[in-house]
Amino acid sequence: MMTERDSADSGSCDKNIFWHRGDVAPAERAALKSQQPCVLWLTGLSGSGKSTLANRVERRLVEAGRHTMLMDADNIRSGLNRDLGFSEQERVENIRRIGEVSKLMTEAGLIVITAFISPFQADRAMVRTLLPAGKFIEIYLSTSLEVCEARDPKGLYCKARKGEIAHFTGISSPYEAPLQAELCIDTASLSVDESCELIMDFLHSQKNE
Ligand code: ADX
Repeated sequence: MMTERDSADSGSCDKNIFWHRGDVAPAERAALKSQQPCVLWLTGLSGSGKSTLANRVERRLVEAGRHTMLMDADNIRSGLNRDLGFSEQERVENIRRIGEVSKLMTEAGLIVITAFISPFQADRAMVRTLLPAGKFIEIYLSTSLEVCEARDPKGLYCKARKGEIAHFTGISSPYEAPLQAELCIDTASLSVDESCELIMDFLHSQKNE
């Protein structure tokens, strides 16, 4: 049952759901951590180096005393999203959930780093709208299919070419390159450290770090 206080703080929505505004604002949580929360959204083909770079960036941020959280595709698909496969519809749902969780984590005051192929422009654009302006930082790992396939760290391109994996991004499922990424990094020509430096420089320029 709603109290008077709840009813004063809540706005009504459809489906009998009422938004409840808490007493502690996201800005207060961030202030306690002395940082500006944001989402560093890494997107690119499998094998482009998203997980490696995401890990390096998180390490740098933690060493600088920042409070972070890393969400990586294979880990999230082993838990929260273990009910999802790789059809277009399931990928849309995968990214929708990650977007919502990222938003919650920024409201908790964290700097969030995500490493998902996130192949569809519309889904990335939708996540951008969930966050305050300037807080969604899209980082496109533009490493070519040729290079990613040659690396094939998990042997998945080989299996996909043999027809053993359906809907494999870059082979039998599309990847839509970002139109307005904040950063574009080709990991074929930059080392992990150099790539990480570009991201840290960007955060400094935004006064996020
Ligand atoms: S996304 O397209 O929905 O964003 P996500 O980033 O979560 O994909 O998962 C990609 C990871 O799942 C890859 O790194 C790879 O290890 C694994 N994977 C398994 N099947 C596929 C597939 N059909 N296409 C792409 N990646 C796949």
